[in-house]
Amino acid sequence: MVTVHDKSFEVYIEKTRLEKEIKRVASELMDSYGERQPIFVGVLNGAFMFFSDLMKEFDAPCEVAFLKASSYRGMESTGEVHFKDAELEQLKGRDIVVVEDIVDTGTTLKALFEQIATFEPASMAICTLLLKKEAYKQSIPIDYVCFETENKFLLGYGLDYDGYGRNLPEVYILKD
Ligand code: IMP
Ligand code: MG
Repeated sequence: MVTVHDKSFEVYIEKTRLEKEIKRVASELMDSYGERQPIFVGVLNGAFMFFSDLMKEFDAPCEVAFLKASSYRGMESTGEVHFKDAELEQLKGRDIVVVEDIVDTGTTLKALFEQIATFEPASMAICTLLLKKEAYKQSIPIDYVCFETENKFLLGYGLDYDGYGRNLPEVYILKD
């Protein structure tokens, strides 16, 4: 168990399960993108740990880029999405795989998708470590998912609670 700020969390997805599902998704990505020299776009800050582990399993030529989005304050999605530091000009005509830590309502993803589309990539796919299936409200297909999760607040392996907990090596869930 860990405590961050005022809340307690327990382990939800252990390291060995993370490794197994990341390998599975990386191999699916190899099948689709092994010959296409894709650009993987990591959504900061949350995706940093997943992105790093996923990329180590993608054994073919590719580029990486990052963009920064934030829509959460504390434990609630604010609904607004802010982007910074985007390297979007280089995406024109390329096969893009957006790499997210978690898809919750999908608000962030939709805004991101629309923004990336304006740069005219050849194709766009979404890869996420975690999907809160019950909370997801958009119609954009989520092409690569490591884990479908409960609709509860998660922490660790990149995910934060008000800035803290991103460095935890496993995924934790809020204790009732
Ligand atoms: P959405 O826009 O509602 O899909 O929320 C997406 C973003 O909110 C994610 O990229 C995370 O940064 C954050 N988020 C959503 N659910 C959680 C959670 O359970 N724990 C920590 N951050 C979360
Ligand atoms: Mg995020």
